[in-house]
Amino acid sequence: MSRPPLASIPAGPVAVPGAVAELAAGDTVTPVWRNQLGGLTFRLEDANGGTRYVKWVAAGTPEINLPGEAERLKWAGRWAAVPRAPAWGSNADGAWLVTAALPGRSAVDPRWTADPATAAAAIGRGLRLLHDTLPVQECPYDWGVERRLRGRDEAARQRLGEPPAVDRLVVCHGDACAPNTLLHDDGTFAGHVDLGSLGVADRWADLAVAAWSTEWNYGPGYDGVVYDAYGVAPDPERIAYYRLLWDLA
Ligand SMILES: Nc1ncnc2c1ncn2[C@@H]1O[C@H](COP(=O)(O)OP(=O)(O)O)[C@@H](O)[C@H]1O
Ligand SMILES: [Mg+2]
Repeated sequence: MSRPPLASIPAGPVAVPGAVAELAAGDTVTPVWRNQLGGLTFRLEDANGGTRYVKWVAAGTPEINLPGEAERLKWAGRWAAVPRAPAWGSNADGAWLVTAALPGRSAVDPRWTADPATAAAAIGRGLRLLHDTLPVQECPYDWGVERRLRGRDEAARQRLGEPPAVDRLVVCHGDACAPNTLLHDDGTFAGHVDLGSLGVADRWADLAVAAWSTEWNYGPGYDGVVYDAYGVAPDPERIAYYRLLWDLA
């Protein structure tokens, strides 16, 4: 199965929102990402090599909760390689989240789309590390099926059916698709970004989407690399359930 990219590295010029220009205060501003809701991420580089990232979303954009993402980054940052020093703000035009740069490049950087096997392995290992590291008992956030289906109609629930029994409850990333994993230049896992949905759920909620996203970003044949690197055998029933949930929720 293939689908069009929902989000991508901007190919042409991008208008810099006023708030981002103000935050930059003379730093070099480079657009790095446009998401499927029109949200934009910029890299800000100062003259001393200091680098920050700003994610900006237009006012009224549904489903984007930057304060919630900042809170989750602070929480997860005690254990995991995620962006530091999150700060957010908003004005009449939109809202923004500023973070300190993590080292590494995204698994969809041209360097890694040219070497999908290495990237897919880092995605699997990174996810395993995250799931093994974040403490479920201490996690205040929920990403379980019920919560994700809140506000969805009966037809969606009917289509999904009953969730499979939980395999292993972990703190899930919540959007474990390829662009949100960063790799060091030697191909090892560097860190995770985009943790606005982080919360406790069955590990297959992340695994199913992480493996699926290798098809969208690299083409067929790399999902098995993700499961292998994670250290798990594919579980067709849970994979199918959590992919359908991803589409419906
Ligand atoms: N702190 C950071 N360090 C390094 N790269 C980052 C950082 N924040 C964002 N990025 C880059 O910007 C991209 C978009 O950020 P992300 O939070 O994933 O936005 P979106 O919610 O639009 O997907 C990421 O895929 C990553 O390449
Ligand atoms: Mg992202």
